Amino acid sequence: MSSDAPPDAFYDIMRGVAALTGNRVVGDLAKLLGDGMPPDLWIAVNHKQIASKRWLLDALAQTMPEPDGPVWVLGAWYGVLGALLLDDERLTISEIVSLDRDPACAPVADKLNRRHLRDGRFRALTADMTGLDFGAQTPRPGLVINTSCEHLDDVPGWLATLPAGLPLLLQSNDYFREPDHRSCVPSLDAFIAQAGLSELWFSGALPTKNYTRFMLIGRR
Ligand SMILES: C[S@@+](CC[C@H](N)C(=O)[O-])C[C@H]1O[C@@H](n2cnc3c(N)ncnc32)[C@H](O)[C@@H]1O
Repeated sequence: MSSDAPPDAFYDIMRGVAALTGNRVVGDLAKLLGDGMPPDLWIAVNHKQIASKRWLLDALAQTMPEPDGPVWVLGAWYGVLGALLLDDERLTISEIVSLDRDPACAPVADKLNRRHLRDGRFRALTADMTGLDFGAQTPRPGLVINTSCEHLDDVPGWLATLPAGLPLLLQSNDYFREPDHRSCVPSLDAFIAQAGLSELWFSGALPTKNYTRFMLIGRR
């Protein structure tokens, strides 16, 4: 596209792709573009991010398609994973709680998920995940997802604060070079050891160009 494309060109293209594919998340993203997206939204929906989220959806559909309670997504950024989880017909999810400590994230996540916000199936919170008491939440979370483990200072310390038996889906990576990453792991085995889950239902590694992403599903 030439640099003199009209400012709403991406919006029109996204609406075209939504019409072509019938994909509701693409339609929701198009609306978000029309509303004025944050400048770094593209990083949250680039092909690498979406590939890792598809991998997550496929693994969850195989291991735990019907979590018994709301699904909390921690370090949720702009709420893209919540939108994908609620749109996946293989999954039955009553509600997504999309949490990030960055106050810029919740308003964008709410806009992206506006259909589900209206239906009472989505809410975005601004909080530090390490300060939450999951044992005190009602209803009890059916699953807690953290795809940002590499961003925490102390992954085992955080996990120790969670109720025993809580279902968890965790992702981390070996992208040590990224300055915001504090808890990267060199291998899948190192991630399994770091998490110390009492039950492990899925473990896998997804190589990408610059790093490998790791995922675990199981119980604290
Ligand atoms: C770069 S993003 C997501 C990266 C992740 N690998 C992914 O693909 O989902 C990391 C997010 O985690 C959030 N975050 C980091 N530490 C957090 C904490 N202690 N509590 C809540 N959110 C946190 C950041 O604000 C940021 O939006």
